[in-house]
Amino acid sequence: MTNRVPFIAGNWKMNLDHQQGIALVQKLAWTLKDANFDYATAEVAVFPGFTSLRSIQTLIDADQFELKLGAQDISAHDSGAFTGEVSGLALKKLDVQYVLIGHSERRQLHNESDDVVRSKTAAAFKHGIVPVICVGETLEELESEGAAAVPVRQTLAALAEHESLGDFIIAYEPVWAIGTGQVATPEQAASVALKIRDAIRAEHGELADRVRILYGGSVKANNVAGFLRSPEVDGVLVGGASLDSEEFSGIARFQSHLAI
Ligand code: PGA
Repeated sequence: MTNRVPFIAGNWKMNLDHQQGIALVQKLAWTLKDANFDYATAEVAVFPGFTSLRSIQTLIDADQFELKLGAQDISAHDSGAFTGEVSGLALKKLDVQYVLIGHSERRQLHNESDDVVRSKTAAAFKHGIVPVICVGETLEELESEGAAAVPVRQTLAALAEHESLGDFIIAYEPVWAIGTGQVATPEQAASVALKIRDAIRAEHGELADRVRILYGGSVKANNVAGFLRSPEVDGVLVGGASLDSEEFSGIARFQSHLAI
């Protein structure tokens, strides 16, 4: 048994404008309320696109929803001539508590290297935003190196050379499972999560026991319980299924499936 609070994260990716985002968050909060959802059983966070953050922040604040707010990216820089980038200073001002860093779509489509991921992680620490560092292997890497090698290497690279480490979350997302419907087995997810935690412990000591390690990749309400049954997996990062309030609330309520 661990005392890590499960983390249920909805990565909206480049979907929904701010009005659609408001409607989704309202529906999500009401659905969870109707189901008497106990927010002590899991932290539930949404990660909208940048243009929706202000609206969702205002909604959460005004209606006192217990949902948490995250962003999908952060600049490594605080301010200056970096056209198109969004700084941690600006995110913090919007009460953003979490930020995705190094999602495989950023690594693959925007050439984000481990070095970039490390710098963005440093920016998140600097501004008091908890980085959700995404790691995972492609199908080719799975075949050539096995499941854990790449995620462990990416995790250690993101955590290297910081003066001190703030709170952080690791999201293990096998690239071959993202948006494909080809989900990893709970055993695969738990085994990689364990190796990631062991590697963090070997480099950084006891703090490894506090770190939440999530699984992501084709998570749905009907498969979430399998992952969270393992004490190694402390939550899920959900893409497609987070765009549907019923489905995402079903994922947040994984405890009710655990009993079955
Ligand atoms: P998916 O995406 O749930 O649609 O597979 C997960 C993610 O990319 O975070």
